[in-house]
Amino acid sequence: MRRRKVKGAKEKLLSYEGLIYEAEDLNASFLENLGWQDSDVWVEIGMGRGQFILEYARRHPEKKFIGIEMKEEVLLRALQKLEDAPMDNIKFILGNANLMSDFFKPESLGRIFVNFCDPWPKTRWAKRRLTHRNYLAIYQKLMHEGGELHFKTDAEALFEFSVNEVLEVPYFKLLTVQLDLHNRETDIPTTEYEDKFKDKGLKIYRMVAKRG
Ligand SMILES: C[S@@+](CC[C@H](N)C(=O)[O-])C[C@H]1O[C@@H](n2cnc3c(N)ncnc32)[C@H](O)[C@@H]1O
Repeated sequence: MRRRKVKGAKEKLLSYEGLIYEAEDLNASFLENLGWQDSDVWVEIGMGRGQFILEYARRHPEKKFIGIEMKEEVLLRALQKLEDAPMDNIKFILGNANLMSDFFKPESLGRIFVNFCDPWPKTRWAKRRLTHRNYLAIYQKLMHEGGELHFKTDAEALFEFSVNEVLEVPYFKLLTVQLDLHNRETDIPTTEYEDKFKDKGLKIYRMVAKRG
């Protein structure tokens, strides 16, 4: 891995050449340019410090992973972890996930993870939730048939909202609803937020929906 010497947070981030890309610089040839156009590509949106997607990438060397995050400081932590334990099947994108259609072609993704996204509790903020139907429309366009949306949260109201959004749109089929994920499953990749909530004894909700 080649790195330039740099000062600010963003410069530091972008010094991880070949591992991180800025959303605004990308176009629809992104996966081709990586040579990943024929791979099963799994994306995590709002990946924070990357614990979850890095662990998935470690467990699935046969797949390709892309984490999208808009906060520079947290993304930097993910890059540092990757530098400590390098893998060549994972890349990161700095930027807003609402730009995804600019850099992923339709039907190019196999799975999208949304984990512990901001609940945006007020009704007037509903469109900002990453499981709002406007986002579901983007996800379904970018995933191929049979692709899966995996969503986890500790927020009951957000979970209920998200399940209802999936049920309202015609292109997703609800596969799984778990109201206490860790009561049943133990050896699964977790996120930083998930560990924090789990340790406090809070229930974690999970939904899986399939693109039909
Ligand atoms: C509550 S944190 C959860 C982080 C991580 N998924 C976890 O579970 O530990 C939500 C993260 O999503 C990021 N985020 C929220 N909206 C986003 C968007 N539209 N595009 C990219 N990242 C986003 C935030 O910057 C934040 O780091």
